[in-house]
Amino acid sequence: MTYAVELKDVSVKYGKIPALKNVSIQIAEGAFLGIIGPNGGGKTTLLKVILGLIEPEAGEINVFGHPHNQMVDRIGYVPQISNFDRDFPISVLDVVLMARLGGRVRFFHQYQKEDLKKAEAVLDQLNLLHLKDRQIGKLSGGQLQRVLIARGLAVEPEILLLDEPTANVDASSTSQIYELLKNLNQDRTIIVATHDMAAVSSYFDTLACLNEKLYHHGDKRLDQETTEQVFGCPVDLIAHGHPHHVFAPHGEEENND
Ligand SMILES: Nc1ncnc2c1ncn2[C@@H]1O[C@H](COP(=O)(O)OP(=O)(O)O)[C@@H](O)[C@H]1O
Ligand SMILES: [Mg+2]
Repeated sequence: MTYAVELKDVSVKYGKIPALKNVSIQIAEGAFLGIIGPNGGGKTTLLKVILGLIEPEAGEINVFGHPHNQMVDRIGYVPQISNFDRDFPISVLDVVLMARLGGRVRFFHQYQKEDLKKAEAVLDQLNLLHLKDRQIGKLSGGQLQRVLIARGLAVEPEILLLDEPTANVDASSTSQIYELLKNLNQDRTIIVATHDMAAVSSYFDTLACLNEKLYHHGDKRLDQETTEQVFGCPVDLIAHGHPHHVFAPHGEEENND
């Protein structure tokens, strides 16, 4: 079987500080995966390593069965909102158009007609077209997040990675964003990293807990103590049952060294 994303024993260090330790996971095409875990647990690092923005110390990453570095244009990325995003004096349409350029710098009038059409279509799909000329500094948190999702979609990706997509939005925008992601999941694989664990977990069809190591599918269920102590994932989530399955640990990976 070809997986949308497959990691084999991936380890990442920043200098001497380990961020990911022997992380392996197979993510099926069409999955709606939530990667949950505490701050500093390595979620952002994991997304960046899939995107090829960070070189792992060890391990292998495949996307649709090929080395991930050859496949980056099949992946859309929605980074976590930073203050920098808000301060940048640029319109909603420009933000989405820039994704179409793939890093090539051009002036506005040199955009291809096709790029403009695609950018407007994506904004329309997300009910944002009426905001296309608005400066991004003048958007609400929820609107800005949806604009960044539009930017991630503008490259027509088969896999969409999102980093903390609800960290800067209120509760009603949070459910709006997850409804949107559920819709987008109908024809693409979606991977969301979030520390906002219990609040949003019911939307995902699979969950993985990450805190340096990753709890993933295996023959054993997560036990509550390990879940809470090692991964910082709430017991409720595991014990009181959502309709999805939770990744369980591989037998030999339980010893902490
Ligand atoms: N650029 C960096 N340089 C050094 N350490 C980093 C860097 N980025 C992240 N780290 C460290 O790596 C670990 C994982 O961070 P991160 O992937 O951002 O976790 P999360 O997204 O789950 O909060 C943390 O200990 C963090 O301090
Ligand atoms: Mg992060």
